[in-house]
Amino acid sequence: MSTPRIDELKQHVGRSVTVRGWVTHLRSSGKIAFVILRDGTGQIQGVLAKTQIAPEVWERFTALTTETSVAMTGEVHAEERSPGGIEMAVTNLEIIGASSLDYPIQPKEHGIDFLLDHRHFWLRSPRQRAIARVRNEVEQAIHDFFYARGFLRVDTPILTAAIGERSGLFSTEYFDEGNAYLAQTGQLYGEAAAAAFGRIYTFGPTFRAEKSKTRRHLTEFWMIEPEVAWNDSDDNMRLQEDFVSYLVRRALDRCADDLVVLERDTAPLERVVPPFVRLDYGDAISLLHRKGSATAWGDDLGAEDESLIVADYDKPVFVMNYPREAKAFYMKENPADPRTVLCDDLLAPEGYGEIIGGSQREDDYDRLLARIRAEKLPEAAYDWYLDLRRYGTFVHSGFGLGLERTVAWICGLPHLREAIAFPRLMNRLRP
Ligand code: 4AD
Ligand code: MG
Repeated sequence: MSTPRIDELKQHVGRSVTVRGWVTHLRSSGKIAFVILRDGTGQIQGVLAKTQIAPEVWERFTALTTETSVAMTGEVHAEERSPGGIEMAVTNLEIIGASSLDYPIQPKEHGIDFLLDHRHFWLRSPRQRAIARVRNEVEQAIHDFFYARGFLRVDTPILTAAIGERSGLFSTEYFDEGNAYLAQTGQLYGEAAAAAFGRIYTFGPTFRAEKSKTRRHLTEFWMIEPEVAWNDSDDNMRLQEDFVSYLVRRALDRCADDLVVLERDTAPLERVVPPFVRLDYGDAISLLHRKGSATAWGDDLGAEDESLIVADYDKPVFVMNYPREAKAFYMKENPADPRTVLCDDLLAPEGYGEIIGGSQREDDYDRLLARIRAEKLPEAAYDWYLDLRRYGTFVHSGFGLGLERTVAWICGLPHLREAIAFPRLMNRLRP
């Protein structure tokens, strides 16, 4: 007896097969009963006619509760009115694992904290499956995009000495070496790898001990960071717009059904094609002032500012060349205006905010050292990074794309917490 997955059942019409899964819905008129079974690939409705099946099978049906795991056997029929276009005329039912009557998630509205406490069950819902599928597609698309362009994937360490971005560090004791810090970025290692291999990307979990309870911040998130030898800031932005457009296209092409489940309006996603809008930081500030924002030249842009900026456009927007003070120490001074650095933030449309931070890297040893000192960073931790400027320095650029922010935008999710299976937030370490 074959045990196909539910998404394979269409090829088995007219045959008797066994499927295994979890009971999601039960209904009975006393003589005829319906079981909806879910196996992660789809759902199938099983129909049981009391007079046509063995009494013990009917008995087992009456013992079913939601989320019982079962093996269900019967002939597969085409049935237009059924979800998936097929149905099963059940002849046998084996209970594999009973499910207590107090299954916490019920077909009613639950509060977000309740759902997050029961994330291990919440994942079983059609909506969460749709999000997981989009995330999976985006991850695969990321690898395909870079593989096709000859990038090497380089895995960078999670345990690091104190290096990275400005935001908070998680630390842990590390034998006789003092503290180790969870990586906020793979970039600095990525730069070393770019000098070795040319075009590389890293893809891994990154950590920020930021005390921000916003819908855009996780304490653990996944970041994709390409680093490219000989790319300048302009090349860097072209790579970003090609990359982001490719990811969106892949989700549109291969996750159409999931986007329907998520009730995502796909019209704005269809417009995500290169070139994207490019706004100089100074022009962005002027635009913000016209719209009544009090953000001053020199400030980094907040979430509200980002929403005001993208409101004028129906595509992602690059904001380029921020003031040095607003950004990280490693960004290259802008020769055209040394108050600024050669960098970009890519803002997603529809108010989703910054999904990419990128820059050309400072390749001048003295300038980089001066920046490390000005920022009062622990110089010793950066000796190897400075070495990259002493032994064959090179023009190079890269960026970091936040996976959860990208998935939240593509899926149209109001909050990042649903874009990852088990979110880590300031106040959430379980399940
Ligand atoms: O702008 P960020 O901090 O840039 C870097 O880490 C650079 N080292 C990247 C590089 O040039 N290689 O972070 C990059 C992106 C952000 O645009 C955002 O999408 C995401 O990472 N991100 C977060 N996502 C979720 N929760 C957080 N707390 C995030 N912080 C940044
Ligand atoms: Mg940033």
